[in-house]
Amino acid sequence: MRKVNVAVVGATGAVGEEMLRVMEEYDFPVNNLIPLASARSAGAKVEFKGEEYTVLELTEKVFEEKEVEIALFSAGGSVSAHYAPYAVEAGAVVIDNTSHFRMEPDIPLVVPEVNPDDIAAWQNRGIIANPNCSTIQMVQALKPLDDIFGIKRVDVATYQATSGAGKSAMEEMVTQMRDFFAFKLDESEHNKFPHQIALNVIPQIDKFMDNGYTKEEMKMVNETKKIMHKNIEVSATCVRVPVLRGHSEAVTIWFERDITADAAREALYNGKNIVVIDNPQNSEYPMPITVVDKDETYVGRIRKDIYRDNVLHMWVVADNLRVGAATNAVRIALKWLEMES
Ligand code: A2P
Repeated sequence: MRKVNVAVVGATGAVGEEMLRVMEEYDFPVNNLIPLASARSAGAKVEFKGEEYTVLELTEKVFEEKEVEIALFSAGGSVSAHYAPYAVEAGAVVIDNTSHFRMEPDIPLVVPEVNPDDIAAWQNRGIIANPNCSTIQMVQALKPLDDIFGIKRVDVATYQATSGAGKSAMEEMVTQMRDFFAFKLDESEHNKFPHQIALNVIPQIDKFMDNGYTKEEMKMVNETKKIMHKNIEVSATCVRVPVLRGHSEAVTIWFERDITADAAREALYNGKNIVVIDNPQNSEYPMPITVVDKDETYVGRIRKDIYRDNVLHMWVVADNLRVGAATNAVRIALKWLEMES
């Protein structure tokens, strides 16, 4: 595979740092690495494959100056909206981790285990979108089941870690925990979440829309349909929990055909990048602490509905910074390179 110049936009952030780690572990064929962030972090150092790289300020010209061929964006929607076109103009393919371009019809939205062929549509705009973290792990687990039993409807409740909102959100939770043990929690501030997150559970991620669902919930609804090329009914309740890393999901699936827990387990064993841990008698099931730093999506608590033969319940957990962001982006980049080489 040819070596390429790779820019990471948001290289000092929670996802950007993880992108560097994943590329290193996957031995990604990097010729030159260009870590980019805002002027605040310009001059800082990041490490990649044992070498130090200086973080540069993101500018309109940097992609051309550094001859960037792949640009991984994870610095927020407004940054992608403004700068991704400059990267494309400079001849790079953009793999964008924000929600900005995801639902544009001519921009592919890709989970390599589910719809790898959609990458070919990168030619349309020079951009490939990385889905929402909660959507990625869910569709990875749905795909092997859909192939065999046909999915009609999904009802999901998420339990999402604070790292999904970035580094400062993780720090906010840690500070509140510290304040709790110092008996100062009532003085603790919250900026990243609408309420205190330590010792709490918040049934709101992102803004509410007119239909009573949040933007995060509607991302799961709309992105699932686009990735799976199918008009699956999805209803989501997205909840922030005081966990640093690892999103969990309680998923109820309505199938066209009848299903058994054993048949579902068998299908999931054969799923790509899926690990089944399902031995409830021994209290064995995936949890956020099971999945930290892992590149697979974990499934457990697989059981048939008590009333209906075509309904299944399961528990899906993955590292949101990896499976839900960095690893998915790097896997897209590798597939793109394979296709273009
Ligand atoms: P910086 O370190 O300069 O603030 P997180 O999701 O963990 O909060 O990280 C966000 C990432 O996006 C950081 O690397 C941050 O860089 C970067 N970033 C935020 N705003 C901008 C911007 N306007 N231009 C370039 N990078 C940005």
